[in-house]
Amino acid sequence: MTDTLPADLFLPQAKKAWFIEDRFGMFIHWGIYALPARHEWVRYREEIDDAAYAKYFENFDPDLYDPRDWARRARAAGMKYVVLTAKHHDGFCLWDSKVTDYKATNTPHGRDLIAPFVEAFRAEGLRIGFYYSLVDWHHPDFAIDMYHPLRNRPDAAARNDGRDIKRYAAYMRDQVTELLTWFGKIDIIWFDFSYPDRIYKGLPGKGRDDWESVELLKLVRTLAPDIIVNNRLILDGLTDAMPDVVTPEQYPPRTPPKVNGQLATFEMCQTFSGSWGYNRDEESWKSPEQLIQILIDGVALGGNLLMNVGPTGRGTFDQRAINALDAYATWMRLHGRAIYGAGRSELVPPDGCRYTQKGNRLYVHIYNWPNQYLLLDGLRGK
Ligand code: GLC
Repeated sequence: MTDTLPADLFLPQAKKAWFIEDRFGMFIHWGIYALPARHEWVRYREEIDDAAYAKYFENFDPDLYDPRDWARRARAAGMKYVVLTAKHHDGFCLWDSKVTDYKATNTPHGRDLIAPFVEAFRAEGLRIGFYYSLVDWHHPDFAIDMYHPLRNRPDAAARNDGRDIKRYAAYMRDQVTELLTWFGKIDIIWFDFSYPDRIYKGLPGKGRDDWESVELLKLVRTLAPDIIVNNRLILDGLTDAMPDVVTPEQYPPRTPPKVNGQLATFEMCQTFSGSWGYNRDEESWKSPEQLIQILIDGVALGGNLLMNVGPTGRGTFDQRAINALDAYATWMRLHGRAIYGAGRSELVPPDGCRYTQKGNRLYVHIYNWPNQYLLLDGLRGK
């Protein structure tokens, strides 16, 4: 392995102590895709061009937006930090960025959405993170690739003429600078995502060379030395250092994730129903039992859970999301001590059970009660 990056680009374990202690966070995917209400990838899925997508920008006016309500619900559910999509793949920005017009302040809503958000969540005692999409289907220098809404246009390759990814990389640095300097101390930055080897109809994918990931990470560290940076800038192979956090998505890993043979700090991200952005007609909402087991499964493996809510176009949490958060609230009030600061046990739980452990205290989570006795192997006398 090569080690060409300075080790201080990555956080030492001690600086991640709060994150590991907290275990449970809220992901929020919110943007103008909440209006079509059929997945945050709606532009990609339906191959919607800029002109046709403009109606969502022109009608975005979340009149019921009350971040204090979101924050209270997050805290009641037992969540200790929040990660908000400042910009998702469609390029729309929730804050009043100086380097684009494609932002909340230019919609009928007319106001920055991030400052009140940050204030509300801080007031409930949560730490603040921003998701920032590396992918951007709106930026004129972002070349059409396999995930772009225009990928199947016959002139896709020609449309890429003159697009300069270097200008886009500089734009990202400007935006990340705004996000990390305008809203007080930010604890997490969540970049998404890289796909350098995925070529489609001759259109290349994008990865760290396009994003200028190393330069971006250096900038982040300068602006926010203690911030947790996720692993989707993809620096594997450039360094032996451990990424601050690895981010398995939509599945509980079977074994604790490792990097270079070492156990990694990890955070699973999950949805209530499959989509990240608001998707009105989705039928796959998870049951309270599934929701709670996902959280336990993550902690039992030694990781965190970042559970997603996709607010509606009017700025509310859908009733089904409220119910899901209430399920966490009810359970966490009683069992939070088996989650916060707890982690993996070396002991092997009985079938249909999970262990979480904190110091010398062991918590048994019983998913299936056996016929008569629960046999805790190897624990006699302890
Ligand atoms: C994916 C998707 C995206 C979502 C993210 C969350 O990479 O592109 O829509 O934001 O996962 O992990």
